[in-house]
Amino acid sequence: MRVAFVGKGGSGKTTLSALFARHIAGQGGPVVAIDADINQHLGMVLGVEETGLPRPMGSHLAEIKEYLRGDNPRITSAAAMVKTTPPGRGSRLLGLVPGDDPIHSRFAATAPEGVRLMVTGPFAEDDLGVACYHSKVGAVELYLNHLVDGHGEYVVVDMTAGADSFASGLFTRFDMTFLVAEPTRQGVGVYRQYRDYAADYGVPIAVVGNKVHGPGDVDFLREHVGDDLLVCLEHSPAVRALEQGRPFTLGDLEPANAEALAVLGKHLDSQEKDWERFGRQAAEFHLRNAQAWANKATGEDLAAQIDPGFTFGPTRVSLQR
Ligand SMILES: Nc1ncnc2c1ncn2[C@@H]1O[C@H](COP(=O)(O)OP(=O)(O)OP(=O)(O)O)[C@@H](O)[C@H]1O
Ligand SMILES: [Mg+2]
Repeated sequence: MRVAFVGKGGSGKTTLSALFARHIAGQGGPVVAIDADINQHLGMVLGVEETGLPRPMGSHLAEIKEYLRGDNPRITSAAAMVKTTPPGRGSRLLGLVPGDDPIHSRFAATAPEGVRLMVTGPFAEDDLGVACYHSKVGAVELYLNHLVDGHGEYVVVDMTAGADSFASGLFTRFDMTFLVAEPTRQGVGVYRQYRDYAADYGVPIAVVGNKVHGPGDVDFLREHVGDDLLVCLEHSPAVRALEQGRPFTLGDLEPANAEALAVLGKHLDSQEKDWERFGRQAAEFHLRNAQAWANKATGEDLAAQIDPGFTFGPTRVSLQR
């Protein structure tokens, strides 16, 4: 099950991604947490030392593409593979259990509670301009497109702030999207926009209130987002202490916040996997990218990369390596 945390800058996407991933790991579930934000901060909140950070996926796109394309005859080279190129027969697919393929073994670091951390990589000086950032995040899109996951297995993605998350097809690659919102006018300001985007694509979304100080805050959120409000996390002294560099374990979290994480987990678990939508939208966004820039960039008609004989999801045939 894949979940994205989106929302305004500073709302708590990174904090909640990390706490949620740690909660899932504590329950024993295999969990990969991916830092797909411009400011790479997730490792820190997961308790990974600077020196223990994994190799950035965004800097090794060619290697990742070379592996994933396997011997799929529709993909002529790694260079002809773009972020939206979907898997087909012959492609190499990824699993979370045991997850010992070269992508996980080369690009994931294990955080203290067993969360596996993957990162797109930080912005370098010469990355100025969004195009490069989007291509780095493209590593996550490729990863998710080739991942065959099921219930009880988790990928948590810390997304970039604002409506940027909706700029590519990446937002359609999740079973659930948690919109983190503070109980302020600004905090709920992007809600309608997110909700409308999500509704257009049949993407399930729920609002998670954060840094809530009391019933008045909850009422405010409820008033603005209605039944889309799933649960709220309170302003947390334990999180503040973590940010101050003090030792932190999940056990330090306030009981109400720990319960809220459990609600998020239950909600994610209650989602049905919709492989049909997933495959349909993979093709849709690939065609859109092909026409907009990728055909020109690669000099090929990338529509031919879509394999009509390939079925997304856990079929025996598609899982063969
Ligand atoms: N429930 C909470 N209680 C206390 N502090 C919190 C809580 N949630 C987040 N914070 C604090 O708020 C600040 C912003 O949180 P965070 O970095 O997770 O937001 P973000 O949405 O990822 O921001 P950005 O858009 O910059 O990536 C951090 O200092 C974090 O420690
Ligand atoms: Mg962040």
